[in-house]
Amino acid sequence: MSRMPPMPTIPLSPSHPAYVCPSLPGDAFATDVLEGLARTPKTLPSVWLYDRRGSELFEAITQLDEYYQTRTETALLAECAPALAAAVGPNAVVVEFGSGSSRKTPLLLDALDKPRAYVPVDIADDFLDDAVAVLARRCPGIPMLPVRADFTRPFRLPPQLKDTPGPRLGFFPGSTIGNFAPAQAAAFLAHVGKILGTSRRMIVGVDACKDASILVPAYDDARGVTAEFNLNLFARINRELEGDIPLDAFRHEARYNDAASRIEMHLVAKCTLDVHVLGQPFRFAKGESVHTENSYKYGATEFRALASSAGWDVERVWHDGARRFAVYLLKPANAA
Ligand code: AVJ
Repeated sequence: MSRMPPMPTIPLSPSHPAYVCPSLPGDAFATDVLEGLARTPKTLPSVWLYDRRGSELFEAITQLDEYYQTRTETALLAECAPALAAAVGPNAVVVEFGSGSSRKTPLLLDALDKPRAYVPVDIADDFLDDAVAVLARRCPGIPMLPVRADFTRPFRLPPQLKDTPGPRLGFFPGSTIGNFAPAQAAAFLAHVGKILGTSRRMIVGVDACKDASILVPAYDDARGVTAEFNLNLFARINRELEGDIPLDAFRHEARYNDAASRIEMHLVAKCTLDVHVLGQPFRFAKGESVHTENSYKYGATEFRALASSAGWDVERVWHDGARRFAVYLLKPANAA
């Protein structure tokens, strides 16, 4: 690239350790699991699917034939990156939420004019460190400020950022926004708006509404990778919370909930079962499920209304030819 290296305004090396957000409590996993399994129906927050193993399995999901989302969005981003960069302007500080492997990030950083810093926010800390190391080699000269935080709860940006000028560009690809219920998604977008401040923009990748015959296989693939990803949540409970859940007594299920416009992942008990987590007993009836993830789908009208309720206007939107996936550029509501 012919891009000039950005001014080193932030005294950090690319290998700086992650800023651990103070709002990340140590025992949140235990609390969520004990509460979620005691509830009727049983539910677990999908954020706990992403430990190192879960993050690796999700990476494998993104390569599946059935999982059209990643390749569709990657092609879209490659196509619209120059227009995005032109709209955002120079010196942007890029804040990515749920950065994971940060695989799509170079598409954006390469296109932007003199990006000031890259701030990946993710809960999987060892995975985050690896992703940042790879990206630091791929995009040298851009300071990397990883933040370890659960972005589904209130979180902060690293304090060093206060002294860095330039527009704040939120980057939320992958349709991760679909993990939130609509009201939570609006709260997240509003919270992010506050964190990013007045000269803010936001790029959001959104999976569109479509037929269940395409959606269900995307979440229940023939090779069983998504099943393993889902079951890893129980494996993690067994590993980290003294659980004794027999994995082979459960099967993975992807259900399309048409009324709510969402895909649901469940782990369904094949038989009656008693299990323990941290010494607490939990009973499963045959056929009873633990609801482990939602993935909401949005049409353009619905997403525009959602963004608007959170103080954002749609500046531009890009779709693939089959209208399976959309990339939205958001700007502050009522801004010129
Ligand atoms: C990472 C939340 C975007 O909802 O499509 C993929 C997660 N779960 N297959 C999605 C997921 C099962 C994924 N997101």
